[in-house]
Amino acid sequence: MFVEILPPQVRSRIAAGEVISSPSDIVKELVENSLDAKATRIEIEISKGGKRLIVVRDNGEGIHPEDIDKVFLEGATSKIRSEEDLLKLTTYGFRGEALHSIASVSRMKIKSRYFQQKEGWQVEVEAGLLKQKEKTGMPVGTEVEVRDLFFNLPVRRKFLRREDTERNKIRDLIKEYALVSSAVEFKLISNGKEILFFPASEKEERIKQILGENFEVYERKDNTVWIKIYIRRNIPQGRVYIFVNSRPVKNRNLKEFLRKVVGFKTAVALFIEVPPFAVDFNIHPKKREVKFINERKLLSLLRETLKGKKDPFVTNYLLTVPKAYRFTLKVLGQISETILVVQYGDYIYFFDQHLLSERINYEKGKMSADKACKISLKSGVELSPDAIREMIKEWESLENPHVCPHGRPIYYRIALSEVYNKLGRSF
Ligand SMILES: Nc1ncnc2c1ncn2[C@@H]1O[C@H](COP(=O)(O)OP(=O)(O)OP(=O)(O)O)[C@@H](O)[C@H]1O
Ligand SMILES: [Mg+2]
Repeated sequence: MFVEILPPQVRSRIAAGEVISSPSDIVKELVENSLDAKATRIEIEISKGGKRLIVVRDNGEGIHPEDIDKVFLEGATSKIRSEEDLLKLTTYGFRGEALHSIASVSRMKIKSRYFQQKEGWQVEVEAGLLKQKEKTGMPVGTEVEVRDLFFNLPVRRKFLRREDTERNKIRDLIKEYALVSSAVEFKLISNGKEILFFPASEKEERIKQILGENFEVYERKDNTVWIKIYIRRNIPQGRVYIFVNSRPVKNRNLKEFLRKVVGFKTAVALFIEVPPFAVDFNIHPKKREVKFINERKLLSLLRETLKGKKDPFVTNYLLTVPKAYRFTLKVLGQISETILVVQYGDYIYFFDQHLLSERINYEKGKMSADKACKISLKSGVELSPDAIREMIKEWESLENPHVCPHGRPIYYRIALSEVYNKLGRSF
């Protein structure tokens, strides 16, 4: 075997695929950066659904002239300094990854004037490499221009969706951010035409602009969780928006739960606030998914909040389905009597059956690592789907579900979205 370490240029192009797979991913990252920079006005311009051009302009605090040629480097961030900071995040960004990923798969220009400076600076970057840096006159704020997405990755370029599909995704995305940041003005221009405009407003006014008039509001608090739900019924096509600590999140199961409770022809915006330590956003490269430390409690609070609210369907559903919400679990099989394959939520997991069994015995049987190793299931044993399901149920309640007592990973998982993406389908 001849092994070579890939040059950083190539590696970052591959890694960029984790964060950036479509124009809307870019818009998301740039808008989040503008919000983190405390902008009160954000203008997004796209052409060809963002495939040819994306420009995001803001009036935020700007980038310091000494930083402007560093912000697109891997791990460059002003938002966190240490691991502990991850537990008290107040910004959307924290990885120092977005601009780097975007820069490595496009032609990018960043113009910015820092709020304490009299002039701006601009850099041009192509496939991650700095081409030019010069002074420029501009108002305080930042403008990031991204051209020719995936010009250096023709295969990925081919898998981009049609212009109107990409444009609609971007439009939906802007609505999401507009819902959480009502004090910010948002404008979206597509092929020279303004297609969205939300002036800075009070929260309820913004809700009205996006969900429509005559919405219902329910609110609930306990010691650690605060929930507010806006519901607008009887519209032709329903929509579910979920926000956790002001971050728009995607969560299929929670969405299904809400759909069942309020019906399909309903627009719902659910806002959840929990202390930063009670959620983990760091489990997904796009930060789109969240994991709650006490999900059961959250769901029962949600159920109580919606109980008996006008729509009789709500009460019925809530009375007949008192179970806690959980991820879908589907056993797919076993490979070579060694690896268990299951679908769990939006992932396919490959578990090492020995290591999984070892962890369960170690934790549940409260035994030493060596003892657990000795008595645990070995490879070479065929397991029925029911037996596999039982093991996964045990795994769900482990303190540490990630590694065996000796520190080896118990599973390898792959996101369904990635599989869909590789096959040219949207997830
Ligand atoms: N619109 C902007 N206004 C001001 N500063 C910005 C803007 N966009 C980027 N920056 C600066 O560039 C840095 C890098 O941005 P980038 O999005 O790559 O990383 P991040 O936001 O820190 O983390 P993440 O990768 O999670 O988004 C930011 O930390 C910030 O200092
Ligand atoms: Mg960012």
